[in-house]
Amino acid sequence: MHVARLQASDAGPYRKLMLQAYELAADAFTSTVAERAAEPDSFWVRRLADPTGLSAAFGAFDGQKLVGTVALEFSAKPKTRHKASVIGMYVSPEARGSGAGRALLDAALEHARQREGLLQLTLTVTEGNTPATRLYISAGFQFFGREPMAVLTPAGYQAKLHMWLALQRDAPSRSSSGGGSAVQASGPDVPG
Ligand SMILES: CC(C)(COP(=O)(O)OP(=O)(O)OC[C@H]1O[C@@H](n2cnc3c(N)ncnc32)[C@H](O)[C@@H]1OP(=O)(O)O)[C@@H](O)C(=O)NCCC(=O)NCCS
Repeated sequence: MHVARLQASDAGPYRKLMLQAYELAADAFTSTVAERAAEPDSFWVRRLADPTGLSAAFGAFDGQKLVGTVALEFSAKPKTRHKASVIGMYVSPEARGSGAGRALLDAALEHARQREGLLQLTLTVTEGNTPATRLYISAGFQFFGREPMAVLTPAGYQAKLHMWLALQRDAPSRSSSGGGSAVQASGPDVPG
């Protein structure tokens, strides 16, 4: 297994893997298979290689086969371009438990640290998704909020936990609530 930055030419296998994700891990994602299957090819290309540089995606390969992925979405807005979102984390069931998820997240974090002006990453994870939550905690992400009834999944309405990671120790902090919320105060245990 190796991890590499995905390119526009990976859009076909990337689309196939993400459609599998929306189907097999429906509770973990906000989009449905039907919604995403209807997206044009340009949607998938933009996720991997946005012409304005507002995305980066990484793939875990077993030989030539794409078995896992994660992406970053950056902001162009002057007031928010210090933040990026981690999205679309998925490892196909047969490839799980072998370090692919961690290697993908490490690659995304390494890329994020190299990006000028980027200070923090955020993500959301469905409450009760222990594998993903533990992975994010082990990489240093902290909880800062919980949105009740955030998504309607096949299992019913579920909450989303909001997590963030400061990329630099000396990042300016203008809010006393950053990283010190009531949610974080519950310690490293996985909520739900
Ligand atoms: C979450 C996911 C990406 C993890 O991928 P993976 O390749 O199996 O993860 P790794 O083997 O790299 O494990 C890394 C860490 O994740 C956590 N983890 C992974 N599987 C876990 C499990 N079944 N139970 C608890 N923790 C688990 C552990 O902290 C693990 O570190 P450790 O091996 O030192 O204990 C994978 O389970 C997945 O695709 N799930 C469905 C989609 C999903 O939930 N995506 C997240 C959306 S927010």
